Amino acid sequence: MRETVLDHLKKVGLVPVVVMSDAKSAAPAARAMREGGVDVMEITLRTPAGLEALRYAADEGILAGAGTVLSLSQCRQALRAGARFIVSPGFSEDVVEECLSWGVPVLPGCVTPTEIMRAAEKGLDVLKFFPANVYGGMKGIKALSSPFGGIQFVPTGGVDLSNLSEYVHPAVYAVGGSWMCPRALIDAGRFDEITELCRQSVEVLRQARERAV
Ligand code: 3PG
Repeated sequence: MRETVLDHLKKVGLVPVVVMSDAKSAAPAARAMREGGVDVMEITLRTPAGLEALRYAADEGILAGAGTVLSLSQCRQALRAGARFIVSPGFSEDVVEECLSWGVPVLPGCVTPTEIMRAAEKGLDVLKFFPANVYGGMKGIKALSSPFGGIQFVPTGGVDLSNLSEYVHPAVYAVGGSWMCPRALIDAGRFDEITELCRQSVEVLRQARERAV
């Protein structure tokens, strides 16, 4: 069976959140990440370079989605620019409906039972959990997964190499964050360090998943 975008996110288990100052940097950043074993990138629309960066990243064969999608118009722009998935910090019915109509996976940020229920009503079962460190981290996710057993989360916010392994749990679909491809390293052209951060993240996750079996 063909691997879907969501299947791929789950397999990689990591969703690097990337902020681009210059769209052209998306190409070397994508190559660096791929070399480190991470071929997924959530390019935020926090900077004007974000939309164009999506195209550069896709040309490097990375699965590039758009993040920080706050409105329907941003969502449409991202989908037209070829975003393979859409991530939003919160739940917007308009954004979710638009993605559903395009058949593109959407991960809205949901941290309360009400938000989760609204997303579930739309048929979604993979949700961003943001900011994870503020909303109780793994403790918060475990508490929510009692009533919402069919939902899996992508915790993002405050995760790094030091606490990544805490998030290996059946209720966690993948883990997101900016630590794998920090803006400062992209801007400084320190792509080798991005490769190394990705490599280490893949290894930490692999070991934690092995221990969890
Ligand atoms: C996001 O948009 O998901 C967050 O900015 C990522 O949070 P982090 O920088 O703490 O990883």
